[in-house]
Amino acid sequence: MPVNANDQKQLLSDMEVVQRIFDHIDNSTTDMGKQSWKEPTDNYRSKARLDAELKVLQSRSIVFCPSSALANVGDYVARDAARVPLIVVRGLDGVVRAFRNACRHRGVQLANGHGCARALVCPYHGWAYSLDGSLRSIPHEQGFPDIDKATRGLVAVTCFERNGLVFINQNPLANIEQDIASIPKLIPDNYRLLNSATVIVNANWKLYLESSLEGYHIRQTHKSTFFPVQYDNLTVVEVFGENSRVAFPYQSIEGLRHKKHADISVDGRLTYVYHLFPNVVISTFPGCMQVNVLEPIDASTTRQHTYLISAIGENETALLKAVSQGQNFAAEGAIEDLQIVLSAQRGLLSKANEFLEFGLFESAIVRLHSHLAKEIKQVNSVSE
Ligand code: FES
Ligand SMILES: [Fe+2]
Repeated sequence: MPVNANDQKQLLSDMEVVQRIFDHIDNSTTDMGKQSWKEPTDNYRSKARLDAELKVLQSRSIVFCPSSALANVGDYVARDAARVPLIVVRGLDGVVRAFRNACRHRGVQLANGHGCARALVCPYHGWAYSLDGSLRSIPHEQGFPDIDKATRGLVAVTCFERNGLVFINQNPLANIEQDIASIPKLIPDNYRLLNSATVIVNANWKLYLESSLEGYHIRQTHKSTFFPVQYDNLTVVEVFGENSRVAFPYQSIEGLRHKKHADISVDGRLTYVYHLFPNVVISTFPGCMQVNVLEPIDASTTRQHTYLISAIGENETALLKAVSQGQNFAAEGAIEDLQIVLSAQRGLLSKANEFLEFGLFESAIVRLHSHLAKEIKQVNSVSE
Protein backbone atom coordinates (compact mmCIF):
# COMPACT_ATOMS: atom_id res chain seq x y z
CA MET A 1 0.00 0.00 0.00
CA PRO A 2 1.42 3.42 -0.83
CA VAL A 3 2.43 5.32 2.25
CA ASN A 4 0.72 8.61 2.77
CA ALA A 5 3.25 11.10 4.00
CA ASN A 6 0.75 13.76 4.86
CA ASP A 7 -0.68 11.81 7.80
CA GLN A 8 2.39 12.27 9.95
CA LYS A 9 2.90 14.99 12.54
CA GLN A 10 6.69 15.09 12.82
CA LEU A 11 9.61 14.64 10.50
CA LEU A 12 10.91 11.09 10.27
CA SER A 13 14.43 10.19 11.33
CA ASP A 14 16.96 9.64 8.53
CA MET A 15 16.75 5.90 9.20
CA GLU A 16 12.96 5.94 8.82
CA VAL A 17 13.21 7.90 5.58
CA VAL A 18 15.78 5.44 4.25
CA GLN A 19 13.54 2.51 5.20
CA ARG A 20 10.61 4.10 3.42
CA ILE A 21 12.78 4.64 0.33
CA PHE A 22 13.77 0.96 0.34
CA ASP A 23 10.09 -0.01 0.57
CA HIS A 24 9.41 2.17 -2.46
CA ILE A 25 12.38 0.76 -4.41
CA ASP A 26 11.24 -2.80 -3.64
CA ASN A 27 7.60 -2.17 -4.50
CA SER A 28 8.04 0.34 -7.35
CA THR A 29 5.99 2.87 -5.41
CA THR A 30 6.42 6.42 -4.17
CA ASP A 31 4.76 8.64 -1.57
CA MET A 32 1.39 9.89 -2.72
CA GLY A 33 -0.79 12.67 -1.40
CA LYS A 34 -4.49 12.42 -0.75
CA GLN A 35 -5.74 15.11 -3.06
CA SER A 36 -4.96 16.50 -6.47
CA TRP A 37 -5.17 20.24 -7.09
CA LYS A 38 -6.13 22.61 -9.85
CA GLU A 39 -4.40 25.98 -9.51
CA PRO A 40 -5.93 28.70 -11.72
CA THR A 41 -3.41 30.05 -14.23
CA ASP A 42 -4.63 33.55 -13.39
CA ASN A 43 -2.95 33.06 -10.03
CA TYR A 44 0.40 33.05 -11.85
CA ARG A 45 -0.41 36.08 -13.98
CA SER A 46 -2.50 38.48 -11.99
CA LYS A 47 -1.06 41.56 -10.33
CA ALA A 48 -3.85 41.54 -7.75
CA ARG A 49 -3.00 37.97 -6.80
CA LEU A 50 0.71 38.78 -6.49
CA ASP A 51 -0.14 41.77 -4.27
CA ALA A 52 -2.16 39.43 -2.03
CA GLU A 53 0.76 36.98 -1.90
CA LEU A 54 3.14 39.79 -0.97
CA LYS A 55 0.81 40.67 1.89
CA VAL A 56 1.17 37.09 3.11
CA LEU A 57 4.95 37.37 2.86
CA GLN A 58 4.81 40.61 4.84
CA SER A 59 2.54 39.15 7.49
CA ARG A 60 4.69 36.34 8.84
CA SER A 61 8.16 35.26 9.89
CA ILE A 62 10.31 34.45 6.88
CA VAL A 63 13.88 33.26 6.51
CA PHE A 64 15.99 36.19 5.36
CA CYS A 65 19.36 34.43 5.18
CA PRO A 66 21.41 31.87 7.09
CA SER A 67 23.10 33.23 10.24
CA SER A 68 26.44 32.42 8.64
CA ALA A 69 25.81 35.12 6.02
CA LEU A 70 26.12 37.56 8.96
CA ALA A 71 28.89 35.78 10.84
CA ASN A 72 30.80 38.83 12.14
CA VAL A 73 30.00 42.12 13.83
CA GLY A 74 29.17 44.66 11.12
CA ASP A 75 28.23 42.08 8.48
CA TYR A 76 25.14 43.23 6.63
CA VAL A 77 22.80 42.02 3.90
CA ALA A 78 20.74 44.73 2.19
CA ARG A 79 17.97 43.65 -0.15
CA ASP A 80 14.24 43.65 -0.68
CA ALA A 81 12.03 41.28 1.29
CA ALA A 82 8.50 41.09 -0.11
CA ARG A 83 9.28 44.28 -2.06
CA VAL A 84 10.37 46.22 1.04
CA PRO A 85 14.04 47.28 1.06
CA LEU A 86 15.66 46.09 4.28
CA ILE A 87 19.13 46.10 5.74
CA VAL A 88 19.93 43.33 8.21
CA VAL A 89 23.11 43.74 10.23
CA ARG A 90 24.95 42.11 13.14
CA GLY A 91 25.59 44.64 15.90
CA LEU A 92 28.53 45.12 18.26
CA ASP A 93 26.60 43.09 20.85
CA GLY A 94 26.32 40.17 18.40
CA VAL A 95 22.58 40.71 17.91
CA VAL A 96 21.20 40.69 14.37
CA ARG A 97 18.78 43.55 13.65
CA ALA A 98 16.71 44.52 10.62
CA PHE A 99 15.87 48.05 9.50
CA ARG A 100 13.95 49.59 6.67
CA ASN A 101 16.71 50.54 4.25
CA ALA A 102 16.13 54.27 4.01
CA CYS A 103 18.04 57.17 5.49
CA ARG A 104 16.04 59.34 7.89
CA HIS A 105 17.23 62.49 6.11
CA ARG A 106 15.93 62.14 2.55
CA GLY A 107 15.35 58.43 2.27
CA VAL A 108 18.36 57.20 0.29
CA GLN A 109 19.27 53.52 0.76
CA LEU A 110 22.21 53.02 3.07
CA ALA A 111 23.66 49.99 1.30
CA ASN A 112 22.90 47.42 -1.33
CA GLY A 113 24.07 43.81 -1.45
CA HIS A 114 26.31 42.58 1.33
CA GLY A 115 29.42 43.69 3.15
CA CYS A 116 30.89 44.53 6.52
CA ALA A 117 30.81 48.02 8.04
CA ARG A 118 31.55 49.69 11.37
CA ALA A 119 28.65 52.08 10.84
CA LEU A 120 25.92 52.57 8.24
CA VAL A 121 26.81 55.80 6.50
CA CYS A 122 24.42 57.29 3.98
CA PRO A 123 26.09 57.79 0.58
CA TYR A 124 24.18 61.06 -0.07
CA HIS A 125 25.14 63.49 2.73
CA GLY A 126 26.83 61.20 5.20
CA TRP A 127 24.36 60.82 8.03
CA ALA A 128 25.86 57.96 10.04
CA TYR A 129 23.99 55.29 11.96
CA SER A 130 25.42 52.90 14.53
CA LEU A 131 24.99 49.18 13.90
CA ASP A 132 22.06 49.23 16.36
CA GLY A 133 20.30 51.70 14.06
CA SER A 134 20.67 54.81 16.20
CA LEU A 135 21.56 58.04 14.42
CA ARG A 136 25.11 58.76 15.46
CA SER A 137 26.17 61.83 13.54
CA ILE A 138 25.00 64.45 11.07
CA PRO A 139 27.65 66.32 9.08
CA HIS A 140 27.34 70.08 9.72
CA GLU A 141 24.70 69.42 12.28
CA GLN A 142 24.08 73.14 12.81
CA GLY A 143 21.96 73.03 9.64
CA PHE A 144 19.34 70.95 11.46
CA PRO A 145 18.70 72.87 14.69
CA ASP A 146 15.32 71.19 15.31
CA ILE A 147 16.31 67.57 14.89
CA ASP A 148 16.16 65.27 17.92
CA LYS A 149 18.72 62.63 16.92
CA ALA A 150 17.33 60.17 19.47
CA THR A 151 14.08 59.90 17.48
CA ARG A 152 15.70 59.63 14.05
CA GLY A 153 17.29 56.21 14.20
CA LEU A 154 16.64 53.71 11.41
CA VAL A 155 13.15 52.20 11.44
CA ALA A 156 13.37 48.71 12.90
CA VAL A 157 11.66 45.57 11.63
CA THR A 158 11.29 42.47 13.80
CA CYS A 159 14.29 40.22 13.32
CA PHE A 160 15.53 37.17 15.20
CA GLU A 161 17.88 34.23 14.85
CA ARG A 162 16.88 30.62 15.41
CA ASN A 163 18.87 27.49 14.74
CA GLY A 164 21.27 29.03 12.25
CA LEU A 165 18.68 31.05 10.35
CA VAL A 166 17.86 34.77 10.44
CA PHE A 167 14.14 35.48 10.24
CA ILE A 168 12.41 38.79 9.64
CA ASN A 169 8.80 39.69 10.27
CA GLN A 170 7.28 42.87 8.89
CA ASN A 171 4.01 42.48 10.76
CA PRO A 172 4.11 44.16 14.17
CA LEU A 173 1.11 42.05 15.26
CA ALA A 174 2.51 38.68 14.21
CA ASN A 175 3.00 35.78 16.55
CA ILE A 176 6.57 35.00 15.57
CA GLU A 177 6.83 31.87 17.71
CA GLN A 178 3.76 30.34 16.13
CA ASP A 179 5.12 30.94 12.62
CA ILE A 180 8.33 29.04 13.27
CA ALA A 181 7.24 26.51 15.89
CA SER A 182 7.25 23.57 13.50
CA ILE A 183 10.68 24.26 11.98
CA PRO A 184 13.29 21.88 13.41
CA LYS A 185 16.99 22.64 13.62
CA LEU A 186 18.14 22.27 10.03
CA ILE A 187 21.53 23.99 10.00
CA PRO A 188 24.42 22.47 11.99
CA ASP A 189 26.14 24.96 14.33
CA ASN A 190 29.50 24.70 12.61
CA TYR A 191 28.25 25.71 9.17
CA ARG A 192 29.80 28.77 7.54
CA LEU A 193 29.07 30.69 4.37
CA LEU A 194 30.97 29.46 1.30
CA ASN A 195 29.36 31.89 -1.11
CA SER A 196 26.19 33.69 -2.01
CA ALA A 197 24.65 34.77 -5.30
CA THR A 198 21.61 36.56 -6.65
CA VAL A 199 19.96 35.82 -9.98
CA ILE A 200 16.88 37.08 -11.76
CA VAL A 201 14.51 34.40 -13.02
CA ASN A 202 12.00 35.49 -15.64
CA ALA A 203 9.16 33.44 -14.22
CA ASN A 204 6.53 33.58 -11.53
CA TRP A 205 8.01 32.68 -8.14
CA LYS A 206 5.61 29.75 -7.65
CA LEU A 207 6.35 28.20 -11.05
CA TYR A 208 10.01 28.31 -10.10
CA LEU A 209 9.43 26.95 -6.60
CA GLU A 210 7.28 24.08 -7.86
CA SER A 211 10.20 22.67 -9.84
CA SER A 212 12.04 21.81 -6.59
CA LEU A 213 9.15 20.09 -4.88
CA GLU A 214 8.50 16.89 -6.81
CA GLY A 215 10.41 13.95 -8.26
CA TYR A 216 7.88 13.12 -10.95
CA HIS A 217 9.93 15.06 -13.52
CA ILE A 218 13.34 13.49 -12.82
CA ARG A 219 13.34 11.00 -15.66
CA GLN A 220 12.05 13.32 -18.36
CA THR A 221 13.67 16.64 -17.43
CA HIS A 222 16.96 15.34 -16.06
CA LYS A 223 17.55 12.47 -18.52
CA SER A 224 21.31 12.54 -18.53
CA THR A 225 22.02 14.37 -15.26
CA PHE A 226 20.01 13.32 -12.20
CA PHE A 227 18.06 10.37 -13.61
CA PRO A 228 21.12 8.11 -14.17
CA VAL A 229 22.07 8.48 -10.47
CA GLN A 230 18.61 8.84 -8.92
CA TYR A 231 15.24 7.17 -9.45
CA ASP A 232 12.21 7.78 -11.60
CA ASN A 233 9.41 9.30 -9.53
CA LEU A 234 10.57 8.15 -6.12
CA THR A 235 10.35 10.59 -3.24
CA VAL A 236 9.39 10.65 0.41
CA VAL A 237 7.20 13.65 1.13
CA GLU A 238 6.61 14.87 4.67
CA VAL A 239 4.73 17.77 6.12
CA PHE A 240 5.66 19.83 9.17
CA GLY A 241 3.45 22.78 9.99
CA GLU A 242 2.87 24.72 6.77
CA ASN A 243 6.16 23.38 5.48
CA SER A 244 7.20 20.24 3.71
CA ARG A 245 10.25 18.10 3.12
CA VAL A 246 10.85 16.05 0.00
CA ALA A 247 13.59 13.38 0.06
CA PHE A 248 15.17 12.57 -3.33
CA PRO A 249 17.29 9.40 -3.02
CA TYR A 250 20.40 8.67 -5.06
CA GLN A 251 21.07 5.10 -6.12
CA SER A 252 24.02 5.13 -3.70
CA ILE A 253 21.43 4.76 -0.96
CA GLU A 254 21.69 1.02 -1.62
CA GLY A 255 24.93 1.18 0.36
CA LEU A 256 22.79 1.61 3.49
CA ARG A 257 20.63 -1.42 2.74
CA HIS A 258 21.96 -3.61 5.53
CA LYS A 259 22.96 -0.94 8.01
CA LYS A 260 20.72 -1.02 11.04
CA HIS A 261 22.19 1.58 13.38
CA ALA A 262 20.35 4.83 13.89
CA ASP A 263 23.28 7.18 13.23
CA ILE A 264 23.70 6.41 9.54
CA SER A 265 24.72 9.33 7.36
CA VAL A 266 22.53 10.12 4.38
CA ASP A 267 25.02 12.73 3.16
CA GLY A 268 25.56 12.01 -0.52
CA ARG A 269 22.87 9.33 -0.54
CA LEU A 270 19.82 11.56 -0.67
CA THR A 271 18.94 15.20 -1.05
CA TYR A 272 16.42 16.69 1.33
CA VAL A 273 14.51 19.66 -0.02
CA TYR A 274 12.86 21.62 2.79
CA HIS A 275 10.16 23.98 1.67
CA LEU A 276 9.74 26.62 4.38
CA PHE A 277 6.42 28.22 3.56
CA PRO A 278 6.01 30.31 1.55
CA ASN A 279 9.14 31.26 -0.41
CA VAL A 280 12.23 29.55 1.03
CA VAL A 281 13.87 26.30 0.01
CA ILE A 282 16.75 24.67 1.88
CA SER A 283 18.39 21.72 0.16
CA THR A 284 21.05 19.31 1.37
CA PHE A 285 23.89 18.30 -0.95
CA PRO A 286 27.04 16.28 -0.29
CA GLY A 287 29.02 18.27 2.29
CA CYS A 288 26.90 21.42 2.05
CA MET A 289 23.47 23.00 2.05
CA GLN A 290 21.84 25.64 -0.11
CA VAL A 291 19.45 28.22 1.29
CA ASN A 292 17.32 29.75 -1.47
CA VAL A 293 15.03 32.71 -0.90
CA LEU A 294 12.65 33.55 -3.76
CA GLU A 295 11.60 37.18 -3.85
CA PRO A 296 8.74 37.98 -6.21
CA ILE A 297 9.45 41.17 -8.17
CA ASP A 298 6.31 41.04 -10.29
CA ALA A 299 4.01 38.27 -11.48
CA SER A 300 6.53 37.08 -14.05
CA THR A 301 9.86 37.97 -12.44
CA THR A 302 11.60 36.51 -9.40
CA ARG A 303 14.85 37.34 -7.69
CA GLN A 304 16.57 34.29 -6.24
CA HIS A 305 19.09 34.69 -3.42
CA THR A 306 21.24 31.62 -2.87
CA TYR A 307 23.51 30.99 0.12
CA LEU A 308 25.84 28.00 0.02
CA ILE A 309 26.86 26.89 3.51
CA SER A 310 29.06 24.10 4.79
CA ALA A 311 31.10 22.87 7.74
CA ILE A 312 34.20 22.51 5.58
CA GLY A 313 37.08 24.73 6.66
CA GLU A 314 38.95 27.17 4.41
CA ASN A 315 42.04 24.98 4.37
CA GLU A 316 40.32 21.71 3.52
CA THR A 317 40.93 22.18 -0.17
CA ALA A 318 40.19 18.60 -1.29
CA LEU A 319 36.81 18.64 0.44
CA LEU A 320 36.02 22.10 -0.93
CA LYS A 321 36.89 20.88 -4.41
CA ALA A 322 34.51 17.94 -3.98
CA VAL A 323 31.74 20.31 -2.87
CA SER A 324 32.34 22.54 -5.83
CA GLN A 325 32.22 19.56 -8.22
CA GLY A 326 28.96 18.43 -6.60
CA GLN A 327 27.56 21.93 -6.96
CA ASN A 328 28.56 22.05 -10.63
CA PHE A 329 26.63 18.83 -11.15
CA ALA A 330 23.61 20.21 -9.25
CA ALA A 331 23.84 23.38 -11.35
CA GLU A 332 23.52 21.34 -14.57
CA GLY A 333 20.24 19.97 -13.25
CA ALA A 334 19.18 23.42 -12.10
CA ILE A 335 19.68 24.76 -15.64
CA GLU A 336 17.42 22.00 -16.93
CA ASP A 337 14.79 22.95 -14.35
CA LEU A 338 15.12 26.61 -15.27
CA GLN A 339 14.55 25.92 -18.98
CA ILE A 340 11.38 24.02 -18.12
CA VAL A 341 10.17 26.76 -15.79
CA LEU A 342 10.78 29.47 -18.41
CA SER A 343 8.88 27.33 -20.86
CA ALA A 344 5.97 26.97 -18.43
CA GLN A 345 6.02 30.75 -18.00
CA ARG A 346 5.72 31.18 -21.77
CA GLY A 347 3.02 28.50 -21.74
CA LEU A 348 0.94 30.79 -19.54
CA LEU A 349 0.77 33.24 -22.43
CA SER A 350 -0.84 30.61 -24.63
CA LYS A 351 -3.99 30.82 -22.50
CA ALA A 352 -4.43 27.10 -23.23
CA ASN A 353 -5.05 26.22 -19.59
CA GLU A 354 -7.45 27.70 -17.12
CA PHE A 355 -5.60 25.85 -14.40
CA LEU A 356 -2.42 23.85 -13.83
CA GLU A 357 -3.01 20.29 -12.66
CA PHE A 358 -1.09 18.79 -9.73
CA GLY A 359 -1.45 15.06 -9.11
CA LEU A 360 -0.86 12.77 -6.14
CA PHE A 361 2.91 12.65 -6.73
CA GLU A 362 3.04 16.44 -6.41
CA SER A 363 1.65 16.67 -2.89
CA ALA A 364 4.22 19.17 -1.59
CA ILE A 365 3.01 21.58 -4.28
CA VAL A 366 -0.61 20.87 -3.40
CA ARG A 367 0.35 21.75 0.15
CA LEU A 368 1.91 25.04 -1.01
CA HIS A 369 -1.14 26.12 -2.99
CA SER A 370 -3.75 25.03 -0.48
CA HIS A 371 -1.96 26.75 2.37
CA LEU A 372 -1.23 29.89 0.37
CA ALA A 373 -4.92 30.18 -0.54
CA LYS A 374 -5.80 29.85 3.15
CA GLU A 375 -3.32 32.50 4.25
CA ILE A 376 -4.41 34.93 1.55
CA LYS A 377 -7.96 34.63 2.86
CA GLN A 378 -6.78 35.22 6.43
CA VAL A 379 -4.61 38.21 5.61
CA ASN A 380 -7.38 39.80 3.59
CA SER A 381 -9.98 39.25 6.29
CA VAL A 382 -7.68 40.99 8.80
CA SER A 383 -7.13 43.99 6.51
CA GLU A 384 -10.83 44.38 5.60
S1 FES B 1 19.65 61.29 2.37
FE1 FES B 1 20.96 60.31 3.74
S2 FES B 1 22.27 61.85 4.41
FE2 FES B 1 20.94 62.87 3.11
FE1 LIG C 1 14.40 19.24 -11.34
